[in-house]
Amino acid sequence: MEDKDFSAIVRADLKNMGDEQDNKLRPQLMQDFLGQETVKKNLSTFIEAAKMRQEPLDHLLLIGPPGLGKTTLAQITAHELGVDFKVTSAPALDKPKDLAGILSTITERTVFFIDEIHRLKPAIEEMLYIAMEDYELDWIIGQGAAARTVRIPVPPFTLIGATTKAGSVSSPLRSRFGFIPRFEFYTFEELAKIIRRSAKILEVEIDDDAALALAQCCRGTPRVANRVLRRMRDFAQVEKKNKITKEIVKAGLERLEIDEIGLEKYDREILRSIITNFGGGPVGAETLAISIGESIDTLEDYYEPYLIQCGLLQRTPRGRMVTEKAYEHLNLKHEDFTKQPGLFE
Ligand SMILES: Nc1ncnc2c1ncn2[C@@H]1O[C@H](COP(=O)(O)OP(=O)(O)OP(=O)(O)O)[C@@H](O)[C@H]1O
Ligand SMILES: [Mg+2]
Repeated sequence: MEDKDFSAIVRADLKNMGDEQDNKLRPQLMQDFLGQETVKKNLSTFIEAAKMRQEPLDHLLLIGPPGLGKTTLAQITAHELGVDFKVTSAPALDKPKDLAGILSTITERTVFFIDEIHRLKPAIEEMLYIAMEDYELDWIIGQGAAARTVRIPVPPFTLIGATTKAGSVSSPLRSRFGFIPRFEFYTFEELAKIIRRSAKILEVEIDDDAALALAQCCRGTPRVANRVLRRMRDFAQVEKKNKITKEIVKAGLERLEIDEIGLEKYDREILRSIITNFGGGPVGAETLAISIGESIDTLEDYYEPYLIQCGLLQRTPRGRMVTEKAYEHLNLKHEDFTKQPGLFE
């Protein structure tokens, strides 16, 4: 396999590459959903209460970077409630009739999941407000002067929205959700547990210290953990080893160009670009995205949150800046890259 294939393997936001076994690894029950303890505890209570009252669960907005388990938790919620689960994403809802089409076929208390909810079109968002609040749809029949709006009831349901961009969700939409949990990056211990669970499902043995070493290099993200685990299984298999050991993990991560704190090549390139091209920053997100040849969405949703979490990057009102730690991590010296006055202002 070539290097460029590897870099796609660790990207958490690329969902469909080599993910054919993902459904197998996706937890179905709350007890198999590891980590995110606070979110889980609260949500379990709300589920329990809604079940006791025989009412739909309050609408939920799940916020967090890609691959942390938003879709998975939505699915589990429907499962735990014992209700139907309907899935769509905001970009798939082109016209109000697309939304009306789904809402008119749901059953009582269905969990209706809208991914990337920050991308809803205004007309659809308007329609959704009424559906969320009054369980009704505004529908226009007839044309021209004869046109009139009728209200069609929909069964009480639960909307679960997911977004990687909390700041882009309009405040009227946001205010209609009853519970807005934020997903955190997973701890090493949680990720090691997830890796061991996945290894069992994939029927490959892994040493505890190997699982922990791997956990430290998967950007706090279960999707990355599962993906890197599969590659380690490949490395082990090709070397005719029946177990993933710490040695295999060490050599494997090197081949994938993932460093000891879990940064991949692109992460390092982002930091390096800020230092060498922009004197350490501040640099605007758009300029930075262009300089590394990535889209601004990928930069903001995927790369930046983890770099910030690692304390290597800061978002400031004037733009992105690297921290002292970034210089140390890349083994670069400040004085070699001082900003030339006027050049990037
Ligand atoms: N808490 C968890 N425990 C075990 N496995 C998990 C957990 N969270 C996520 N996973 C695994 O990671 C994969 C990615 O999770 P999921 O698709 O739910 O992420 P997401 O937050 O919806 O990402 P995106 O923003 O890209 O849609 C799942 O298929 C599942 O196998
Ligand atoms: Mg998802």
